[in-house]
Amino acid sequence: MAIFNKNSNDIKEITADSFSVLPNHIGIIMDGNGRWAKKRAMPRTVGHKAGAEVFRAISKECSRLGIKYVTFYAFSTENWKRPKEEVDALMNLFKDYLLEAKSDITQSGDIRLKFIGERVGISNDLLALMDEAEEETESHTGTTVYLAINYGGRQEIVSAVNKLIASGKTEITEDDISSNVYTVPECDLIIRPSGEERLSNFLLWQAAYSEFWYSDVLWPDFKADDLHAALREFEKRNRRFGG
Ligand code: FPP
Repeated sequence: MAIFNKNSNDIKEITADSFSVLPNHIGIIMDGNGRWAKKRAMPRTVGHKAGAEVFRAISKECSRLGIKYVTFYAFSTENWKRPKEEVDALMNLFKDYLLEAKSDITQSGDIRLKFIGERVGISNDLLALMDEAEEETESHTGTTVYLAINYGGRQEIVSAVNKLIASGKTEITEDDISSNVYTVPECDLIIRPSGEERLSNFLLWQAAYSEFWYSDVLWPDFKADDLHAALREFEKRNRRFGG
């Protein structure tokens, strides 16, 4: 894939070496599926299906670039409020993806799949597929793709605190919380397409020092080039971590 590298004015293959620094962990809020479908006078579920294909492509691109961790926000704890038809369609998309994942990324690539979020509320058949995908990719050493399903950042922190209280802790430190939230590393870069500029309860604990990158592109139209543009911008950021 020959890509125009805006920095060098050369046609170049974009690789990890094209960047002076890459984020260790990228969080992606896959937003804009509904609007993408509406623009085409199609049901929202069609937008989610198109979004699922982009999820596959971008997780593979992150893997190709050697990004260590990428978390995709696929379903929030608030998304249950959507019409049942839309929720069912999303759950079916997750199942279809996991059924196909065996012959797709989990065998052809070196991606490790992990899930974050509350298990309560998710059907047993989807939970079984999630467990299977985690087990089957456990030994993979490439990119870890976290799929956030039934995930909420506040709930994650509250549940960490409750675990600590249950263990008898009376004074809680940052380290205690860090080791009791889902085992997702500190997030370096949050990408949100579709023109919205908010965090929406995503990785609240891990995003304390995240850089943000927004774009007007709707998620189903998001391309590897958009990911590269976010990485170019990240490279230029002067991160001081409060110092
Ligand atoms: C937000 O856009 C998107 C979601 C609530 C769902 C995201 C899920 C996917 C992209 C499917 C992922 C599939 C797999 C297999 C991981 P929106 O629907 O709220 O869009 P809108 O803001 O334009 O209405």
